[in-house]
Amino acid sequence: MSEANRQAVIEAALAARERSVASFSKFQVGSAVQTDTGKIFTGCNIESASYGLTVCAERVAIWKALSEGERDFTNLAIAADTESLTPPCGTCRQIIWEFARHAEIVLVNLRGGRETVFIENLLPRAFDARFLKEIGGQK
Ligand code: THU
Repeated sequence: MSEANRQAVIEAALAARERSVASFSKFQVGSAVQTDTGKIFTGCNIESASYGLTVCAERVAIWKALSEGERDFTNLAIAADTESLTPPCGTCRQIIWEFARHAEIVLVNLRGGRETVFIENLLPRAFDARFLKEIGGQK
């Protein structure tokens, strides 16, 4: 990935964070995914008064891209304002593994902090469709 692409996806995630609907936690998160053709889709966390219905920024970004027909992702950025860079939650790790496995993930904060991580390290021995195929449940 080029540095320009990385920067664009980071800036998109930081801008998406500003649109966070974190009415209860006040913990604002932004995310952006970039496709193999360079398109960027953003997401922010959206909280519900029925707390369990809250959706993380990463999943909003991935759902938006998938629902527009995109399938191949090269980069994913996650932006939050924490000193220790915020990684994706467990649920989002599963979704990243299934739908954006090959994306380079960059964690950023508002103070210039950056770290690149890969989903195979965040979610070792992941469950996925391979196991469903093994018992013939999915062809
Ligand atoms: N959150 C995200 O959007 N992404 C993460 O990876 C961690 C958590 C959101 C969910 C909730 O709105 C708030 O952060 C506090 O958990």
